[in-house]
Amino acid sequence: MSDAKKLFIKTYGCQMNVYDSERMAEAMSAEGYTLTDVAEDADMVLLNTCHIREKASEKLFSDLGRLRPLKDARPDLKIGVAGCVAQAEGAEIQRRMPLVDIVVGPQAYHRLPALARASGPQVDTEFPAEDKFDHLPERKALRGPTAFLTVQEGCDKFCAFCVVPYTRGAEVSRPVERILRETRDLVSRGVREITLLGQNVNGYHGEGPDGVWSLGRLIRALAEVDGLERIRYTTSHPNDMDDDLIAAHGDVPQLMPYLHLPVQSGSDRILRAMNRKHGRDDYFRVIDRIRKARPDILFSSDFIVGFPGETDADFADTLDLVRRVGFGQSYSFKYSARPGTPAAEKAPVAPAVADERLQILQALILEQQRAGQEAMVGREVTVLYEKPGRQPGQMVGKSDHLHAVHVNDAGGRVGELARVRVLASAANSLSAVRIS
Ligand code: 5AD
Ligand code: SF4
Repeated sequence: MSDAKKLFIKTYGCQMNVYDSERMAEAMSAEGYTLTDVAEDADMVLLNTCHIREKASEKLFSDLGRLRPLKDARPDLKIGVAGCVAQAEGAEIQRRMPLVDIVVGPQAYHRLPALARASGPQVDTEFPAEDKFDHLPERKALRGPTAFLTVQEGCDKFCAFCVVPYTRGAEVSRPVERILRETRDLVSRGVREITLLGQNVNGYHGEGPDGVWSLGRLIRALAEVDGLERIRYTTSHPNDMDDDLIAAHGDVPQLMPYLHLPVQSGSDRILRAMNRKHGRDDYFRVIDRIRKARPDILFSSDFIVGFPGETDADFADTLDLVRRVGFGQSYSFKYSARPGTPAAEKAPVAPAVADERLQILQALILEQQRAGQEAMVGREVTVLYEKPGRQPGQMVGKSDHLHAVHVNDAGGRVGELARVRVLASAANSLSAVRIS
């Protein structure tokens, strides 16, 4: 038996949290911890939380309740809470749940190893002066041929419903050189696709060798990295789609034809109340410009229904926007009041009305998603194999358009880019056969 300690991490919420969890796992591996999928086997359990919608923080507290018997049986089991709920609720979490040993915010998690070594309850929700990325060990490429890479954090937009500007703080962009170094490191470990992450990623303005670089410029530099076949980025704000970034969609072949560009609502009145600083026509215009640069691009969006003051007419405008744009996929949420945000002061829409709108919107989104998948049947597409499928001789990966694809390919290898022909569309994936 080795004396390796085991770490169990549960990640809630967005891809930025997935990235943060990987980095925390890497930081703890320098302390002798290896990852386990089984909480019961762990020496340390880390819950990396999300605060963006109500259910996420409710879930944290019920998960902590479920950990109590484990902690009672093994008092030296360390329990940590990271992420945005940790940031927003800090020491309150330990007061409510004394079994929690460590509370660490998203800007301080490079200090997790020190917090885990210390005895007694630890809380660190500072926004430290040092850059956490300078204090983390090198990347390990934990997810095979695809990797997330955070290039920007925080948000200055202050949408009226959103906690991100409070929990993640002001926008900060990582310097170009560090991003290029992390990319080369990941590529040398077999990564072929990178998704650049940021709460407002297309607001990127990082220090480059010759002044401040935009996201478009960063993408062009990443496209020069030998062996990096695919680049994606998420999440973007419509107001930050500048000319160069739009042009990059037309002339950087590695930049994949899929863009998550949340609009939240199709009603000008609600967009104004949300403090989005753009109207529906601005959104149509930016979609048109991107489609001119890359005609086959697929869009996805986030929508909130039941924002305070939303009328039937506002909701009809949202449905109209969805029909006019035609999304490849979308995510829709019922508005939930987040304490401390301006919208939380306003009278809510009746829950039954919001529920009904959510169902109607989700049905339309699903219809568009199905139609988008059906349109791929019979076409040749490229798939990056991420893992073997459940059936023998099957590989699973994503197409350029981010469709999940199951491919019949007995000789397929993880990390390969294969040309395949799409045979059929199922609920959430395509099936295909290899042709080259
Ligand atoms: N209520 C419901 N949905 C929200 N989102 C952000 N804040 C809230 C809220 N208070 C949604 C937005 C955002 C996505 C990540 O979560 O649609 O784009
Ligand atoms: Fe939140 Fe996104 Fe708005 Fe920023 S742009 S406040 S992260 S919804």
